[in-house]
Amino acid sequence: MNVARATLAFAAFLIGAPGAHADTPAPDDPRVYLTQYKCYFCHADREAKAGPAFADVADRYRNDRDAVARLTAEIRHGIRSGGPWHMPPHPEVSLPEARVIARYVMSLAPPKAGE
Ligand code: HEC
Repeated sequence: MNVARATLAFAAFLIGAPGAHADTPAPDDPRVYLTQYKCYFCHADREAKAGPAFADVADRYRNDRDAVARLTAEIRHGIRSGGPWHMPPHPEVSLPEARVIARYVMSLAPPKAGE
């Protein structure tokens, strides 16, 4: 384990991200970015925290063909749609990284009944 991964694992441990224990994400796992950029501080895959659950976001945009592009932009620029909390901008997330994250979020949509 190199220093960056050790640091990530430690950060995941600190914020209690899923995968922080036995299942430490592989470097090509999008959850590495979600931990590294502290997204899991405000989000979880399947439960609402300060921010919406990623699975709920995926569900909301499941029929939107531009969902990945939209989420990619929102991740980098932030969102303020009037709730008590807003999503801060993350200019430190590169465009390709944001796209990987957006695809991961969209992969969490639960299957539709009958699918
Ligand atoms: C400080 C808390 C906070 C952090 C850190 C944070 N978010 Fe959010 N996020 C929010 C909140 C709050 C919302 C809902 C904003 C709204 O709708 O006004 C949100 C919304 C979202 C959405 C839904 C967008 C939509 O169109 O519905 C996605 C996707 C998302 N965040 C991804 C991320 C990613 C990826 C990161 C890390 C790079 C991150 N968030 C970091 C608080 C946070």
